[in-house]
Amino acid sequence: MTASDNTNPTNTTVWDTKTQQFHGGQDWKFLNNFVEDFSVTTNCLGTPVKAIEAARDAVATCHHYPPANQEPAKSSLAEWIWPEHWEANKDRLLLGNGASELIDLVIRSAPQGSWKAGPWDVQYKEYQRSAETNGRDILSPKGNDKANVVCIVNPCNPTGDYKSIEELKDWILNNVQDNGVVVIDESMQIWVGPNFREDSMTAQTEFLEKTFKERNISIYVIHSWTKIWSCTGLRLGSIVCPTVAHCVELKRIQVPWSVNSPALAFLDEVVRDKEYLEETWRVTPIYRAQLIKRLQALAGGRAWEYFGKSYLSWVWADLKDVETAEKAVALAKQAGVPVRSGKPGYERPTFVRIAVREPKQTDVLLEAWKDL
Ligand SMILES: Cc1ncc(COP(=O)(O)O)c(C=O)c1O
Repeated sequence: MTASDNTNPTNTTVWDTKTQQFHGGQDWKFLNNFVEDFSVTTNCLGTPVKAIEAARDAVATCHHYPPANQEPAKSSLAEWIWPEHWEANKDRLLLGNGASELIDLVIRSAPQGSWKAGPWDVQYKEYQRSAETNGRDILSPKGNDKANVVCIVNPCNPTGDYKSIEELKDWILNNVQDNGVVVIDESMQIWVGPNFREDSMTAQTEFLEKTFKERNISIYVIHSWTKIWSCTGLRLGSIVCPTVAHCVELKRIQVPWSVNSPALAFLDEVVRDKEYLEETWRVTPIYRAQLIKRLQALAGGRAWEYFGKSYLSWVWADLKDVETAEKAVALAKQAGVPVRSGKPGYERPTFVRIAVREPKQTDVLLEAWKDL
């Protein structure tokens, strides 16, 4: 097989499993009968059309460097995050090559010491990977010890749990040490609905200032934009820092031009697409409820369990035995509709994570599972 041969029926060679963290979203390229990717939590509407066009147009400018200040995309995103106070806040915002770049940047730059995840059963592993490679002492997420650095994914991928803003503030104050660092991942928080901003930590400017002033705790908010706007291949993320000085510190160690011109053009356009988000909030809960209903019918008498808030773009399903979960993963892949196994990384071998998709695409998955 040559290096460029993409008909390889297995993706086992994609990850260097000894050194890299497993993610979904790799199977599609190796499936000759690929239909739809159920293994990533991207938006079921697909990528917004006008934004793709803007990214495509920007490819024509690839003989120029992207703007070093990430403008005008950064200001456009600031205006979208804080429609009324964006000018006051925009210097606390930094864009990254996917949230992954910023996760690593912020964890690497935090003072040494202990690290703790959110209180969920399990959460997105990239934060822990970064903490481990930085030699941090990993504390139990369920314990009462306060850590130097805490990272909470809210809503949690994969469990679909969510803390309202007041619960979140409480959890932070009780789980981080003075002089510590808090990273909140709100990548999935947009799905909360049209009022998502009111329940977001990005709107808590006074709380961020007060916590920094009184306890010297630095609170950052990270967003991956690759899920809500379904552009995982483009790589787009952002971080809101507690102060402008914190943002300058991150910028100092960030690789220049890490966000390329097509990604910046995409972002500048996509924040104007109000209809896309309205349609997202309208259809996702409907498709999700239908998916669960169909899984319940498929389960027959079996006590499968479904986790996660009703508005989210995936279902975290416990099929209650390892063999059934493994069979579900294999059958889905065979039918060209891969799902995310709960085993690699998350170490929940009886679980599968299923993305919410259009009923027509879900038909293919359910058909593949009819003899499960
Ligand atoms: C909660 C969460 N945060 C961050 C990321 C990283 O996303 P990206 O680097 O594609 O922006 C992911 C990707 O799966 C995620 O689920």
